Amino acid sequence: MSKITINDIIFKKGKEKIIMLTCYDYSFAKILDTLNIDMILVGDSLANVVLGLPQTRLVSFKEMFNHMVAVAKATTKSLVVLDMPYVCYQKDPKKSLYYAEKFLKSGADAIKIEWFNRCPYVVKTLIKNKIPVMGHIGLTPQTVHLLGGFKVQGKDLIGARNLINQAKILEDLGVFSIVCECIPWQLARFITKNVKIPTIGIGAGKYCDGQVLVLYDVLGLYKEKRPKFVRVYKDIGEEIKKALEYFIFDVKNKKFPTIDESFSMKNKEWLNLLKVKDASIKKQHSKI
Ligand code: KIV
Repeated sequence: MSKITINDIIFKKGKEKIIMLTCYDYSFAKILDTLNIDMILVGDSLANVVLGLPQTRLVSFKEMFNHMVAVAKATTKSLVVLDMPYVCYQKDPKKSLYYAEKFLKSGADAIKIEWFNRCPYVVKTLIKNKIPVMGHIGLTPQTVHLLGGFKVQGKDLIGARNLINQAKILEDLGVFSIVCECIPWQLARFITKNVKIPTIGIGAGKYCDGQVLVLYDVLGLYKEKRPKFVRVYKDIGEEIKKALEYFIFDVKNKKFPTIDESFSMKNKEWLNLLKVKDASIKKQHSKI
């Protein structure tokens, strides 16, 4: 299978559900690369699930950059979307192009931008400079303090209208898809029907054109916060624990490593070493 393109993603709208998962490292990306995953999002959820930071807005350019490069190295098929960290565009929107170009030059195929008051300016600037942009509306974790916390967005007329407007603005500016996070399914369906580009839902019901989840949630690796929309497909956290318990047991009971898991040297070399060792021991003795 050849590398998925932006046009492939747009073409899937209304025909085939789009799959996106987050990923943050080389080894997981290698596994994801064996599957039919349309887009891999190097999400700023890295802050929470990998770096243990309390807010996504605290992740740095360098942290996102290093993880993105590792994921991009392992990815041959999926489109690699980089979640632009807060410091690279919300802090000073004028710097967004500089950072986005750095990410694109080093392996990202597209940039995701969360909605905020200067979002149209940033999206316009990036698209004018031929950078593919994915929008993100609804619950936008980088500015969660302005949204009254981790709450479903767009539940009333004003809130819903705002989100519809944001989706329309993003579409008009030329984004190739929009993540809709934590909004009522009816609103997500309405937006999906009324934009020509794909919507990717997370906590937005089944009518979106695609779905995204955080990889560490799907695999039961991150247990601190588990929103209602998360489905744990396999709790590998528990399996990892079991495997490591076996390792601890084997080391304590001298069952690991076996001779087959060890390297050996030729007997002749070993005997030579013994001679040298004897000589050096004798030398040390004579000094005393
Ligand atoms: O960073 C993230 O994990 C996201 C979600 C939309 C999946 O932005």
